[in-house]
Amino acid sequence: MSNQTNSKTVNRPYIVCHMMTSLNGKITGPFMQLPETRIVDEEYERTNETYHPHAWLCGRVTMEENFTRGHKPELDENVPIYSRTDYVAKPNAEMYIVSVDPSGKLGWTQNYVDYMSRPRAHIIEVLTNKVTDAYITYLRKYEISYIFAGEDSLNCTLAAEKLKSLFDIEVLMLSGGGFINWSFLQEDIVDELSIVMIPVTDGETDTVTLFEKADYLPSKAPVAFSLKSVEATEGDGVWLRYIVKN
Ligand SMILES: NC(=O)c1ccc[n+]([C@@H]2O[C@H](COP(=O)([O-])OP(=O)(O)OC[C@H]3O[C@@H](n4cnc5c(N)ncnc54)[C@H](OP(=O)(O)O)[C@@H]3O)[C@@H](O)[C@H]2O)c1
Repeated sequence: MSNQTNSKTVNRPYIVCHMMTSLNGKITGPFMQLPETRIVDEEYERTNETYHPHAWLCGRVTMEENFTRGHKPELDENVPIYSRTDYVAKPNAEMYIVSVDPSGKLGWTQNYVDYMSRPRAHIIEVLTNKVTDAYITYLRKYEISYIFAGEDSLNCTLAAEKLKSLFDIEVLMLSGGGFINWSFLQEDIVDELSIVMIPVTDGETDTVTLFEKADYLPSKAPVAFSLKSVEATEGDGVWLRYIVKN
């Protein structure tokens, strides 16, 4: 199941949106603390591995919550002016973690992430041209790779193409949150949707669902899927796999 190259993935990775949700389609909230969630979380990792991914990608909010923990970058304003050129600090890493951070807010203090049993992942920041020279200098200091994808607003297709051409990423797991998931989906570059559903719910009304459209994105028609497989998991979860219909 590793590399599902087709005519759409000649210039970009095969992209699987792989997410864990509650029964009511939420991806975060109080249900995350339940023991039922912990069991299915292990299934999320198991099913993730079946794709043999080279990278996973998350939005800025997810990165901040799970990895940089709100740490702010220490920026020196007295820095050289950088051309907006991509920077590959570590080619051929065993695993990459791709961080969509359009204006350069994340305060990384090292150039890798260790997460559960996954191989150590080298960080690639996805920036837009509006990022400051001070932030580029900061990334250089920590030897963090970065690519530019968009002038002011994010161009997900360009980012995906660069991930393949510069880092040889063939299989990319698009792993939330809801805002980055919809950004990729609305550019028609998601190939597969993989949901590991936990048998829990809560009644929260202000938490994020699987797909969320940011106000700054144009409206787009709803997206339909065809079912690929359904599998019961440990802990009464369900692994649902869908292919995006064209
Ligand atoms: N259950 C799961 O499997 C799972 C997986 C991952 C995350 N999560 C949870 O999801 C929650 C966060 O989700 P979220 O949807 O709020 O945030 P998110 O998608 O992680 O990050 C959103 C941010 O990414 C940037 N971004 C995303 N799309 C963009 C676009 N088209 N153009 C420009 N920038 C874009 C923006 O950063 P700026 O604001 O800097 O511009 C935006 O605020 C967290 O609680 C996390 O734990 C759950």
